[in-house]
Order: sequence, then C-alpha cells, then structure tokens
Amino acid sequence: MKAFDIAEGIRVLVYGEPMDTGAVVCRLGNEIEADGFGHVELLGPDASRITMELKKKDIVYGLGANLGGINKRGRKYESYCTDEPVHSEEKKRLYAAHNFLMISGNGAKGFFIDFPGLIGYDIGCSDKDKLIIDVAGEDFAVYEIDGKNEDEVVQRFHSIIGRSYVPPKWGLGYFQSRWGYETSKDVRRVKKSFDDLGIPLEGIYLDLDYMEDFKDFSVSDERFPDMEELVREFKEDGVYIIPIIDAGVKIEKGYDIYEEGILNDHFVKTEAGKPYVAAVWPGKVHLPDFLRPETRKWWGEKYKVLTDLGIEGYWNDMNEPAIFYDEEELEKAVDAAIASKGANLGVLKYFELKDLFKDMGNRERYYRTFYHEVDGKVVVNEKVHNLYGQNMTVAAGEGLRSILGKRHVLISRASSTGMHRHSGIWTGDNSSWWSHLELNIRMMPSINMAGFYYVGADTGGFGNSTNWELLTRWLQFSAFTPLYRNHSAIGNDFQEPYIFGDEVTGWNREIIKARYALIPYLYSEMMKSVMNGTMMFRPLSFMFRDDASKDTEDQLLLGKELMLTPVTKPNASGRTVYLPEDMAEVTFRDGEVSLERTASGLRRLEYGFDCLKFYLRKDSILPYSSPSMNVRSLDIGTLHAIAYVDKEAEYVLYDDDGESYGYETGESWSTTIKVRRDGLDFSAEAISDNPKIEKIVVDILGTDGDRIRKTITI
Ligand code: GLC
Repeated sequence: MKAFDIAEGIRVLVYGEPMDTGAVVCRLGNEIEADGFGHVELLGPDASRITMELKKKDIVYGLGANLGGINKRGRKYESYCTDEPVHSEEKKRLYAAHNFLMISGNGAKGFFIDFPGLIGYDIGCSDKDKLIIDVAGEDFAVYEIDGKNEDEVVQRFHSIIGRSYVPPKWGLGYFQSRWGYETSKDVRRVKKSFDDLGIPLEGIYLDLDYMEDFKDFSVSDERFPDMEELVREFKEDGVYIIPIIDAGVKIEKGYDIYEEGILNDHFVKTEAGKPYVAAVWPGKVHLPDFLRPETRKWWGEKYKVLTDLGIEGYWNDMNEPAIFYDEEELEKAVDAAIASKGANLGVLKYFELKDLFKDMGNRERYYRTFYHEVDGKVVVNEKVHNLYGQNMTVAAGEGLRSILGKRHVLISRASSTGMHRHSGIWTGDNSSWWSHLELNIRMMPSINMAGFYYVGADTGGFGNSTNWELLTRWLQFSAFTPLYRNHSAIGNDFQEPYIFGDEVTGWNREIIKARYALIPYLYSEMMKSVMNGTMMFRPLSFMFRDDASKDTEDQLLLGKELMLTPVTKPNASGRTVYLPEDMAEVTFRDGEVSLERTASGLRRLEYGFDCLKFYLRKDSILPYSSPSMNVRSLDIGTLHAIAYVDKEAEYVLYDDDGESYGYETGESWSTTIKVRRDGLDFSAEAISDNPKIEKIVVDILGTDGDRIRKTITI
C-alpha cells in the first residue's frame, strides 16, 4: 500500500495497481506515511476485505442510488450495476455503483473506493459494530476524506471527482413518459390533452416504440413517419421530444450500426475473440465496447441521426448492460424442456426445470464470458463491470456536446462515479408502491452525495398500475426533484395526470403549476450545489443534532431554506411532521401562496391533494415566479418571494441563460434579496444584475406574527 496527499483533508491509499476508472479528476500529491485504512486483509487473489469499527451512535451515509435508508446501517449492499426490475427489500444491488460512504458520529469522515468491479458492504448487519467491505480484487484506491462536518466532507469529495453535469433549464420542466405511446398519433394525443386541460408540459419521452425493430438510431417509418415535423411542431410550443437509446445493437445484416460495428471492431468479444452475442429487446444483439475511446467516439457521433431531427434530449437505458439471456443458457433450458415433454415431473424436477427459465436475465455468469479492450489489454467484463453504463453515457455526453454546442438533457439508468460529470440519472424500474415513494425520498441525499443532481424517480411508479392517490402524492414530492418525469410500463393502467377524473386532474394541474413557480429557486439551488459541490437535498441530521432529527428519514432539507414533508401513506389527510425548530408552513394553492407560523416539535400537518405544502425555515427567503406552461415562458419580470424573518434573511438567486455552457466560465446573474427587522418594521432590499428582473414583491411574515408586503424595484 502506498499513500499520497491529495489536498487539505484528503489522502489516498493505493493498494496494488488500480486502473484509471475515470472517477476522479485530482492528481496525486506527495507520498506520505500512513497506517492504512481500517483493517485491510487479502483474502485471496481477487478478494480484499476492509473492516472498520462502528460506534453505537455512528450514522453511515452514502452508497448513492441503492436501497435501504438514509442511514445505511443494519443492511448489506452491493455495487454491481444490475438491471433489477423489482426493487424489493431483500435486494442488495440496483443499477448504480456509487462507492462513497461517510461515517458521522464524533465528527465526519468520508471514503470513496475507486474500483470498477463488485464491492459488497455489510454495514453493521452481521456484526452490529462493524463495517465490512469486500472488494473483489486487490487493485483499488481508497480516498479518505476528513472535514469539520458532513457538508465539508461531501464538498471535498466532490472536489476530487469534478463538477457535475447540468441540464438546460428546460430539463427542470414536467415530462410525460410511457412505454407504450405506440405511434406519433398517440404522442400528439397526449400533448393535446395537456394543452386542452391547461396542464404545463415540457416534453414527452419516447420509449422503444419509436424505433424500427428496437434498432438504436432508427425511427419507425410506420409508427413515426413524421418524426421531424413532430419534433419541430412541438418545439414551437416549447415542448421537447426525448427518445430512448439502448446499449445492445441488433444483429441484422444491412443495419448500418451493426455493419459499422463489425467492420470497425466495436463490439465486446468472447474468449475466442468473436463478437459476443447477448439478447435484449431486439432479440440477439452485440454490445459496443464503450471502454474503447474509438468506440465511444463512433457511438457519440451516431446521435447526429436524431439531433438532425431537432432532438436535444436522450435517455440511455439497459446499460448495466442488461442481458435477457445468452445463447448457451437459453439452449440449455429449451433442451431440458423438450426432454421433459410428456414426463411426470415430481416437485424437485419441476422446480429444476422452472429455474432454468426463471431469472435467466442478467445471470452473473454472462459477465464472465465477454471481454473488453482496455488500454490494449483484454479484460473480462466482470472486472470492469461498473464502467459499462458510465462509458456509454460518456460517449453520448461528449458526442452531444460537440454536435449541439449547447446543453442537452441526458439521463442514464446505469451509473458509477465519474459519469456524474456527463449525465443525470433516473432511479430505474420502481413500482407503483407507497414504499417506493418513500425510497425515492431517502435516495435523494445519497444520490447528491455521489455527485448526481439531475435526478428523479418514475413518478407514479413504473411497474404495476398506480392509483390516483399515489400518483398525486408522488407528483407532490417530485415537484421538488430536478428531474420531474411521470413514467410507466406498458401493460399497466395509464397514469397521465389527467386520467383520474376532473377533480384529480385539477389537483394535479395545480401541483405541476406550483412546480413551475418554484423553478427559479430549484434551478438556483441545483446550480449552486453543482458549482460548490454541496448537496441540494440533505437529511435533517446534517443540520440538527438531536436524536429525533437523526431518526427522521421521510423529511428532507432542500437548500438552506426549505424542509420537505411529503405524505407517503394512503387515505391520509395529512401527516405528523417533526420540526427541529420553529418554521413557517408554506402552501401553494391555486396560484396563491400562504405562510403560517409553526412551533417546533411534533406537529400535525393537514396536507390535502390540491396544493403543495412544505416548510420555510426561520430567517429564510424563498423566491418564486408566477406559474407558466413551460420553462421558455417563465416570466420573472416580477419576481415574488416569501420570507419568514426573526432578525434578518438573505437569499442569493442564481440564474443564467439556461442553455449555453457559459456557466462554466462564470457567465451568470445574481440577485441578492435581503430582509431585515428594523425595530417594529421590516426593510427589504435587493441587488441584481439579472436583466430579466424588474421588481421583486416580498411577502414577509415575522416570527411574532406581523405580516407586511414590500416591493423592490430593480
Ligand atoms: C427498461 C427501462 C424502462 C423502459 C423499458 C422499456 O425497463 O428502465 O424505463 O420503459 O426498459 O424500454
């Protein structure tokens, strides 16, 4: 083991000869003396174990988009990107490999394991006082990060992994999606419903349905003959089309992507050096070797087929990579089935046969049978497994940036650290379960810790049919997440916000409109978090040290101003909330915003379906605009703000053109709003270089109950 300085509070311990995974952007400093990280043992040629002691009160945060709580203790997890269609409690792995953890107790300490293969975590599960990490290899690096508190540890971690991807501002609008909008007529019908009902809409995601025979970079002539017009017409109304792209390339003579891939050797190979055959949506496919720079370049340029149609947003899917079956496994199962034809199968034989077909997808064996080329060396997928989705998305991100020359929307299902610089993520195939709304809430801070900000879940739930109540409650929570997308699987009941009758449609419309009113704040918070490497969504325990705050996993802090308290149970007219300090209850309803003082402690919050409710912290200001039908028509000429003030409050509203990369070099506008108590009165002032803002109307609630409105001309 060798140890090196990185920067203040950060050092790296290097075991063996780790590969460059693309996770970090920092350089190694001086070599230093170090004892090592926890207790590290070599258990075999491909197995290292790190063991650490946990104190009784330590909280363990992190692991990004994985299952479990905000506090990860008491459970096992794995980092091994997997197409996991059922996110049930016993599962250990999902689509992401986010290997950042933080132990918070007496101070805070973070660590990031830079390793591209399987890592298992036993966090106080087998032994309540131990954190055991099993790394499936001997070559890895552990970054150890100290800080005065949790926020500083996260900020330092983000300083070594580099600045995150940001979408264009329109990426923060409301998106409708569905696997099963089969034709361009269906898509037009959906948009028309939104228009007719006055529900804001920023875009429609296109699932597999738009492709010809599930072929990447193809558009079905039969079902989407008018794609170019569709994209143009929609865009005139400020509505974007976002198609899916899958990792597997259909094996079909004459299909350009397949032919080029074969010709230029772009596909992963078997041990014998032949292109590996997997099966996904189109049947048999080859998998591009995204770990090769030439392949990434080739793939990135392919997006031009779709950008030429005017498309500026994409979602990369099945890039764990998902494998439904491989030829060998399918043949084995089919042979066994044929051999048992007419047989009288006893229970054991029957189960044996059934199991050959069951769970045929994504078997671990598959990932040991195909190979990548990494720096001229042949490497089996298993060893670099978690880099596949990352590199597909790097290819897309780099390609799109160079083709479009302005920001694009990009989300990926599989991810690992390093990909955060190129794309956002969605949390994959959740179900229409109340517990998955809760999981969505708990995932947000961990995902921010891992460096991803443009994030959201399939609102309403992807698998199984949703119901009006779950959808509305989920729309209320997702109204705060940067990616706001309602997506569901084919075969389930439809779940557009207007499906459940007039009354529910009216509620959903108000919720989505309130989301648009919050976009100036949400964009500002997302951008400031990205720029500073801080978190947008934080657990209460980052700010409040009492035990009740540490135990609260169904409320979140958003920025420094807000506390979110979503309802996550059916048949509820509200919920119990925990307020660690006095706050003001905020209600956005029918274009009106109201504020009510609420004393600290356990409180009952009445929270109906027809509004957005949350809390504004003391000495805080929340800016917002009038709602609009899309981001393009958001008008902040008159900016509004609410303030809950004891002594003084300040908010700095970040804004920029929302589409160029100018933000990278500081091209942005800043508006500072200040409210101060002056004896019995309040004063409000603002300084702004934002050319779009003419005046700011601030509604102030004092902690003693006084209310006053101030109008500031800029
Ligand atoms: C995967 C994706 C899901 C998509 C489906 C069909 O399951 O996660 O979002 O709808 O594939 O493309």
